[in-house]
Amino acid sequence: MLRSLLTDILNPLVWNLPGNAAAKFYRFSFTEYSSVLDLTLAARLTPSNDRASQYLRHLQDELKHTHIFLNRCNKLRKERGRKPRSAPDADYENLFERLGEEQFLAFVHLGEKRGCMQFTSYARYFSKKGDTQTSSIFTTVLADETQHMAYTHDLLVELCGSRQKAKIALLKAQAWEARRSWMRNGKALTSKLFFVIVLSVYPLLLPYKLLQIARPAAQKESGWSSL
Ligand SMILES: [Fe+2]
Ligand SMILES: [Fe+2]
Repeated sequence: MLRSLLTDILNPLVWNLPGNAAAKFYRFSFTEYSSVLDLTLAARLTPSNDRASQYLRHLQDELKHTHIFLNRCNKLRKERGRKPRSAPDADYENLFERLGEEQFLAFVHLGEKRGCMQFTSYARYFSKKGDTQTSSIFTTVLADETQHMAYTHDLLVELCGSRQKAKIALLKAQAWEARRSWMRNGKALTSKLFFVIVLSVYPLLLPYKLLQIARPAAQKESGWSSL
C-alpha cells in the first residue's frame, strides 16, 4: 500500500527526467529477460512435468515482455536521436538451485505481485496523461503478470501442502529478499564511499607525489646522481 502510494507520487518525476523513460524501459527489459533465464532452469530442474510446462508458458510471456519493453526503449531513444540498444545481456542467479522449488516459487510470486502493483500505477499515470500508447503497454503486460501472480501462488500452496505453510514460505522469501537488497546496497555504498575517500585523500597526497617527481632532477643538479 505504502509502496504503491510512493510509486504514484514519484511517477511525474521518474517519467519526466530527460532520457529516464528509455532507461527505465531498458531496465524492465533486462529484468524480464533475467526471469526468462531463471524460469528456463526451473523448467529443466523441476521433477514435475506439469510444473515444467507451466514454467515454459510463463517464460514465453516474459520473453514477449522483454521485447515489448526493449522496443519501447528504442522508440524513445530514436525520438531523442539516440542509437537503439541491443537485447539485454542479462544474467541469472540460479535461484531454483540455490533456494529450492518452494522458495523459488515464493520469490517469483513476490516479484510478480510487485510488478502488478508497479504496472497498475504506471498504466493509470499514462492513461491520465492521455498517453494511451504507453498506458496500453503496461495494461497488456499487466494482464500476463496478474495471471503469473495467481498461478505461482496456487503452485506454492500445492507444494507447501497448505495456505498457512505457503504464507510462511512467502515470509521467508521476503526476509531473503530484504537481506539480499541490504547486501547489494551495502556493496554499492562501500564502493561509493571508497571513491569519496580516494577523492578527498588525493589532494593531501599530491604535494608528496610532486616532491617525488621533482627529486631526481634536484639530485642531478646537486651531483648526487650515480651516473
Ligand atoms: Fe513480465
Ligand atoms: Fe511475470
